Amino acid sequence: MCVNEIVVPSQQFRGSPIIPGDKSISHRGLIFGALAKGRTELIDILDSADVNSTAQCLQQLGVKIVSLGNKTWVEGVGATGLCSPNSILDCGNSGTTMRLLMGVLAGQAMQVTLTGDASLRRRPMKRVAHPLVQMGAQISLSQEEYAPLTITGSTLQSIHYHLPVASAQLKTAMILAALSASGTTCLTGEIHSRDHTERMLNDFGVHLDLNSMRIQIQGPQSLRATTVQVPGDPSTAAFWIAAASIIPEAQLQLENISLNPSRLGFLRVLQRMGANIQIQSTSEQSEPVGRIRVTAQPLKGVSICKQEIPSLIDEIPLLAVVATQATGFLEVEGAEELRVKESDRLEAVATNLRAMGAEIEVRKDGFRIHGIQRLRGAKIESYHDHRIAMAFSIAALVAEGPTEILHADCAKVSYPEFFSTLRNLTQ
Ligand code: S3P
Repeated sequence: MCVNEIVVPSQQFRGSPIIPGDKSISHRGLIFGALAKGRTELIDILDSADVNSTAQCLQQLGVKIVSLGNKTWVEGVGATGLCSPNSILDCGNSGTTMRLLMGVLAGQAMQVTLTGDASLRRRPMKRVAHPLVQMGAQISLSQEEYAPLTITGSTLQSIHYHLPVASAQLKTAMILAALSASGTTCLTGEIHSRDHTERMLNDFGVHLDLNSMRIQIQGPQSLRATTVQVPGDPSTAAFWIAAASIIPEAQLQLENISLNPSRLGFLRVLQRMGANIQIQSTSEQSEPVGRIRVTAQPLKGVSICKQEIPSLIDEIPLLAVVATQATGFLEVEGAEELRVKESDRLEAVATNLRAMGAEIEVRKDGFRIHGIQRLRGAKIESYHDHRIAMAFSIAALVAEGPTEILHADCAKVSYPEFFSTLRNLTQ
C-alpha cells in the first residue's frame, strides 16, 4: 500500500496534543513482562506497528498478551517458559524487537528464525550476534551480517564485553542474555545510551551493579512481574516541539513526557540554540516525567559532538530541519550510526533538504547546515522511514507551497496519529 500525504505551510501552530507512550519503554515492558513470573500490567503502552511486532513475536513464543482500553496485561512465563514457535518470527520494521529478542533467545533451548521487512533485513545484526556467540549461542546470519537469522539457544556463560557502539539495543540484548547466563557479565565501553532497561529491570526485581564505567550483571536472575506506567515518548513529542520552535507565535504544551536524561539531548540542543522551552518535572518514579511548554523564538546554530549523539539519535533528521530556520552554522559529528537506521538518514536528510531548495554539506558521520534558508514545497522521499516522513512534514509547515510526503503511512511504525494530530495543531 502506498499512502502519500500533502502537507501545506501553516502560520498557525497551537495546542496540547496527547503524546502516545514511549516506544522503547513499551517494547521493554512487553519483553520483560513475558520473562517475569506473574502478570505484568502495562499502562498507556504505545499502540504502533513496531510495538505490535514485539507483541506478536512474544505471542508466537507462547506468551499471552491481552489489551483493554489503555491497559495491557502480559502473562509472564518465567525465564525458561517460552515455547518453540511454529514459524519464523517477523519483526517487521523494528530493530528493537529483533535485537532484544536475540538477547532473550540466546539463552533458550530452542531454534528460532527471525526476519523483518526489507529495511530491517539491511541493518547490521553481527554487532549483537558476535558477543552472544561468545556467550555460547549459535547464530547464523545471512551474508554473515543480516536477517533472516537463526538462533540456536544454549546454556550461556558470562563474559566481559567492551561495547563498540553506543546502542541501547545491543546493551539490552547483552543484559538480557546475561540474566540467563551463569557468572558475572561485565559490560564496558559505549554504555551511555538510553537507560530504560537498567531502570525498568530494577522495577522487575533485578539487581544490576552500575557505575559510570561499567554494568555488571550477576546471572542467573529471575524477573518478578510489576506494573509499568509508560510515559509519553520524547522522540514523538520532538516533532511538535520543533514545529513550535520555528513557527512564529506558535504555542505548545505537552504533559506526561518522559524526562529521562538519556533522551533529552534534543531539548538541550534546542535550548542552546535559543529556543524558549520550559520543562517542569511532575513525577519522579523510575522514569522521570513532566510538562514541556514551547513558544517560538529566533534560533542560532550550534555544534553537536559525538558524546551527545546517543541522547538525540532519533531526533537528528528533525534537527537538520530546524537548522535551516536558525541563523549561522549547525554542525553534527560522530553520528555515523544514522547510516544504519531504518534508512541511511544522513543521505535521506540531504536528498530531501536539497529537494526543498536548501544547502547541506554531508559528511560520513554528520553534516553542516548554514541558515536561515527558505524552503520550498517538494516531493519528499520518505524511504519508508517513519522519522524521515515526520521530520519533513515539519519542514513542510515552514516551506513555500505544498509538500508531498511519499509513503507517509510509514509513520504508523511509531506514531499512527501523526498526520491527524498535525492537522489539529495547524487548524
Ligand atoms: C532504541 C535504541 C536506539 C533508537 C531506537 C530505539 C531502543 O537504537 O534509535 O529507535 O529502544 O533501545 P540503537 O540502540 O541502535 O542506537
